[in-house]
Amino acid sequence: MRRVPPWPAWLQQPPKAEPGRLLVVLTGAGISAESGLSTFRDSGGLWEKYSIYEVATPEAWQRNPQLVLDFYNARRAQLAEVQPNHAHLLLKELEKDYTVIVITQNVDDLHERAGSTYILHLHGELIKARSTADESLIYEIGYAPIRLGDKCEKGSQLRPHVVWFGEEVPAYPIAEAWARRADIFVVIGSSLQVYPAAGLVYEAEHARKFLIDPRPTLTHGVEVIAAPASEGTVRLVELLRS
Ligand code: APR
Repeated sequence: MRRVPPWPAWLQQPPKAEPGRLLVVLTGAGISAESGLSTFRDSGGLWEKYSIYEVATPEAWQRNPQLVLDFYNARRAQLAEVQPNHAHLLLKELEKDYTVIVITQNVDDLHERAGSTYILHLHGELIKARSTADESLIYEIGYAPIRLGDKCEKGSQLRPHVVWFGEEVPAYPIAEAWARRADIFVVIGSSLQVYPAAGLVYEAEHARKFLIDPRPTLTHGVEVIAAPASEGTVRLVELLRS
């Protein structure tokens, strides 16, 4: 297990965008749907199969850590079987014409594997584990399971490096600052149900806004592309180039 820093390296030297060329994307589970990963609130989604209160809260962890570990171990193992889809890859392509900041609610590593340069995870990352005694102790574990008895260097149990309901979202202020500066703000595959992440679309007050989603939940103040992520992002690229 390799120790990793709590913040992505690019935040030390943040990119300088050309005027009008700062494109900030907020992605949700929908962008990974075409890669085969379940969303949360669609029919058949994760929150239909599991109770948030049994697998995604600090109380759940206290009550039944094995069940919580099983839930995230299954999702982490599935990551090894899936690939980024065309939408992830197009966000990398857009870096040719824009400074693209990817702010994601997703805990998968598909944006990393698609090659995006500037990624900020609001809700943590499946491929990392964290000490339960010292939250600055974060370890890269790839797609391996976390087991009861796996300990950090201070001897305390490791947990998923994921933000549970009721926990702080430490990356939000950084995400908010980028949204406020965005020239273009794109939401891809989020039901915009969970705050503070959903509030970013309202922070992007200067931006031209797009929403790519087959079942859009927001229509005013955004240009809606009612399509799945891969097809919708192709249309976005065409709109930006026109
Ligand atoms: N392409 C694009 N969007 C899609 C696709 C697709 N192929 N399939 C579904 N969607 C859309 C749905 O219409 C929905 O609006 O993706 C969205 C998924 O919404 P949620 O399941 O609520 O996922 P998300 O918005 O990412 O949830 C936010 O809630 O459970 C917590 O922490 C978890 O990060 C998650 C947060």
